[in-house]
Amino acid sequence: MAIQKGEVAILTLGDRTIELPIIVGTEGERAIDIARLRKETGLITLDPGFVNTGSCVSAITFVNGEQGILRYRGIPIEELVEKSSFVETAYLLINGRLPRQKELNRFRVLLNDSSLVHEDMHAFFQHFPRDSHPMGILSSMVTALRSFYPDLEGLSQSEEVNITLTRLLSKVRTMAAMSYKISRGHKIVYPREDLSYCANFLNMMFDSPVRPYHIDDDLVDALNAFWIIHADHEQNCSSAAVRLVGSGRVNLYAAISAGTAALWGPLHGGANQAVIEMLEDIQATGGDCEPFIKRAKDRNDPFRLMGFGHRVYKTYDPRAKIMKKIVDRVLPKVQSDPLLDVAMRLEEAATRDPYFLDHNLYPNIDFYAGIVLRAMGIPTNMFTVMFAIGRLPGWIAQWKEGAADPNWKLHRPRQIYVGRPLARYVPIEDRDEAYSAEACSYNAY
Ligand code: ACO
Repeated sequence: MAIQKGEVAILTLGDRTIELPIIVGTEGERAIDIARLRKETGLITLDPGFVNTGSCVSAITFVNGEQGILRYRGIPIEELVEKSSFVETAYLLINGRLPRQKELNRFRVLLNDSSLVHEDMHAFFQHFPRDSHPMGILSSMVTALRSFYPDLEGLSQSEEVNITLTRLLSKVRTMAAMSYKISRGHKIVYPREDLSYCANFLNMMFDSPVRPYHIDDDLVDALNAFWIIHADHEQNCSSAAVRLVGSGRVNLYAAISAGTAALWGPLHGGANQAVIEMLEDIQATGGDCEPFIKRAKDRNDPFRLMGFGHRVYKTYDPRAKIMKKIVDRVLPKVQSDPLLDVAMRLEEAATRDPYFLDHNLYPNIDFYAGIVLRAMGIPTNMFTVMFAIGRLPGWIAQWKEGAADPNWKLHRPRQIYVGRPLARYVPIEDRDEAYSAEACSYNAY
């Protein structure tokens, strides 16, 4: 692994100085290595939200938020969208290099062979309440997969991991389409051997005995691009969850289920659904974006413009640029979408507004994702599931990289305790107002 060392940072603590190594990645990113800090000084670092903290070294994905760069295994995302398929990109992320033709064929065959879901699992899907959120169902069902596909005896660890990850990539897609069909009370459509990964998904979602689904190559291409640009994004919230939970040495299914749960939140993967809901609100209140922009700028109002801003990108999200092009390709395929007009007006108004410019808030991937998914006919409550299917290769690659590290440590952050100092147990009859006020006066927030 190419990590340059040599330079050091000097930390002065009273009359003591200690040297902390600086490590440099292959793209020139620099980090102060504090692995020995507590041992040598008794101090820890405090960094809420890990805004300045690297949790690992990784060779999977490179992001430069200032310049708007995203590369998987060194290859720019724009090139992958133009030349690759989602299945090939998944192979690249998970194995570290592009597959040769024979390897890609084999991977496709394995995905096809793994695409059925155990019939006994259908009963689980049938018994979730009809209005359950698909992300909750998906997260539970990924954990349940482990019970249906337990340890594979007699195989090496890497063989077992390869089979498990292929199962996940293939079955999660089948399960997502299954849960949609069941939620509508319709018959499940099984995967077909003659269809590609993306075409199969669209067919499982929309084919019906009374209205056979016509597979549109442009929509298949759009879905390929959609999933490629979602496939990884280094140590984002859900991938960090996969690594953290995985570091406890749980099985891969449980780690992926944790990633799915993390992705559900509206500040992360749930934003694509939140964007559409916000656009619908704007439209329902007459279509004027200004009141929403005003609310987003008001510090006393928790409202934010969904689909704007990013922890890492302080310029236009490169994925949003690609997504905008996909919008142009898919929209002629469908009836005009009034929400698109609202989205375009909102984008124009927000990207001219000094507040958004000063705060480096640009449209992110989720701003356009919802429009693309609507054009494909995907229901709003399944948007985050679409993100999850796309992010699977990244989660798997991050987990695999962690597991291959001989020093994969249990992730266990520390804290600074600011609570009540040593206190005595107060008998219940003595717990008066003064007791409550004193005890609560130490609460952090
Ligand atoms: N609308 C209005 N103001 C915003 C927005 C927004 N969407 N995002 C950030 N800000 C403002 C904050 O109010 C804050 O202002 P202040 O410094 O004047 O107090 C400043 O920008 C910094 O905000 P933070 O929350 O500290 O930035 P952070 O990096 O933690 O947040 C996040 C990133 C969570 C994505 C944020 O921009 C946000 O909530 N966006 C809306 C939700 C969204 O679109 N999420 C999808 C992200 S992409 C993805 O996960 C695939």
